[in-house]
Amino acid sequence: MNNIFEPVTVGQIELANRLVMAPMTRSRANTDGTPSDLAAEYYSQRAGLGLIVTEGTQPSDDGQGYLTTPGIYTDAHVEGWSKVTSAVHTNGGRIFFQLMHAGRMSHPNNTPHHRQGVAPSAVAPGAPMFTLSGMQDIPAPRALTIGEIGQTVADFRLAARRAIEAGADGVEIHGANGYLVHQFLAPSANRRTDEYGGSIENRARFAIDVTAAIAAEIGAARTAIRLSPGLAMWGIDEGVEGPELYRYLVRKLDELNLAYLHIMHTGNDALLADIRKLWHQPLIVNRPGRSRDLIGADIAAGLADLEAYGQLVLANPDFVDRLKTNAAMNQADQTTFFGGNATGYTDYPLLTAAST
Ligand SMILES: Cc1cc2nc3c(=O)[nH]c(=O)nc-3n(C[C@H](O)[C@H](O)[C@H](O)COP(=O)(O)O)c2cc1C
Repeated sequence: MNNIFEPVTVGQIELANRLVMAPMTRSRANTDGTPSDLAAEYYSQRAGLGLIVTEGTQPSDDGQGYLTTPGIYTDAHVEGWSKVTSAVHTNGGRIFFQLMHAGRMSHPNNTPHHRQGVAPSAVAPGAPMFTLSGMQDIPAPRALTIGEIGQTVADFRLAARRAIEAGADGVEIHGANGYLVHQFLAPSANRRTDEYGGSIENRARFAIDVTAAIAAEIGAARTAIRLSPGLAMWGIDEGVEGPELYRYLVRKLDELNLAYLHIMHTGNDALLADIRKLWHQPLIVNRPGRSRDLIGADIAAGLADLEAYGQLVLANPDFVDRLKTNAAMNQADQTTFFGGNATGYTDYPLLTAAST
């Protein structure tokens, strides 16, 4: 039986253990999208996890949704992220960048070019978003043309190249949680009648195109994807065909021999079991709100190869040591999740500090 503290190979790298820091947006980047100087400290504090997946990072101006999220498409971004990767590597960690295109989950107040958001179709998510002028309704996006879909795939590809230039061990495509890739998958957000909409094959095409393009650019062993089957948020409804769509998509992605698949699992256990069988590379499972006594249970049950944790890692830089020693965990402070400074970011106490 595999244990959370055992090493595991992902792509061509060996991870010290099977615990993963889940991607978490912290909205503390500089206004030009470069990570703040504190980001190197924040991530390197958490290098004890087998793998760190960074916060969602936009591959282009269009890809930004929220305020002060980082990008990875300019020289300045590469330079800023290089400080993060070298700090993580110095502390013995490994790091994948999460490439996140927000699609329609975007507000013109938040992007550098202040343009209307882009999406598969001109359907608003029906959700508010925080902007510099407070909470605002997200306006309807503009539907991407076929040419622009090709350009968006190219943006992802270039961003993956730039991530590697910045020292990333790989990239994870954000195909979950209602953002652009997920919008293409869901009929409620994708009303297209061309080859990117309609049938399961067509709705899965964008996810596959992006993944294949990145794998061709940086190698499949450094390419991964995150999916959230069945997650209905911000106007996303996958319809009755949802599980079948994911079985198709996972089968197609499996052919690419990627580094890993990361599932944010919120309910359909039968589908998760199917995905486990269809997928032949490492599988990461993240279960929101997982209680501490169940950490390791998915690996022990053979359902996952790695397990990802978000809030517990956010609040406990020394998460792995605390698990090993059965120590108490700090609680995450939700008021400091997004924006701000070191408070609630780099100042969570370590076990040694807490016990002295
Ligand atoms: C502050 C915060 C920011 C998040 N940002 C992202 C993100 O950028 N990309 C993503 O895929 N998931 C994001 N998530 C979801 C987490 O990766 C994870 O799936 C979720 O927190 C559930 O796991 P947990 O209960 O272990 O925290 C975020 C979660 C939190 C708490």
